[in-house]
Amino acid sequence: MTDTLEIVRLGHPVLRQVAEPVPEELLDSGQLVQLATSLIETMFADNGVGLAAPQVAESLRLFAYWVPEIGPQAEVPPVVLVNPQLIPVGEDLVEDWEGCLSIPGLRGLVPRAPRVKVKARLVNGEPISFTADGFHARVVQHEYDHLDGIVYLDRMRSMGSLMFESELERTTADGDADASDATD
Ligand code: NI
Repeated sequence: MTDTLEIVRLGHPVLRQVAEPVPEELLDSGQLVQLATSLIETMFADNGVGLAAPQVAESLRLFAYWVPEIGPQAEVPPVVLVNPQLIPVGEDLVEDWEGCLSIPGLRGLVPRAPRVKVKARLVNGEPISFTADGFHARVVQHEYDHLDGIVYLDRMRSMGSLMFESELERTTADGDADASDATD
């Protein structure tokens, strides 16, 4: 049985709100487990690599994501992070393509920290901390931004790279599948 939710698109005010922390008493509750499960199912149903609660009109600080195996990037199985904190490592930002399920069809080059330290809770309340690199770090930063009402367009250095996914695929048609195929 699937339990997918409607993804709201840019223009819905919830995408521009700072989301509320998930209250301690909601950790490990049926309500939170249900929301987390729905986030993962909706993310997969829409072929995304990440989905934050505000994108399903729930203004709470949690998001689902996963990272497919791409080249040297190891797979990260689907997970939901609750009340995450991010600490970028290093100062140099790296640009790469991003898309967003709330801004369908578009891609743009977005500068991100290549490595972030992550501290969060799992849905069952267990604390988790790890360091994410490369595309994993990018996905986590993109999803975290949704919790602060920020979308990737806000992070672009220039709108000059903004393009439709179909045009990007045409210009990279000779290349292998890479992170530009992913939306979060
Ligand atoms: Ni997004």
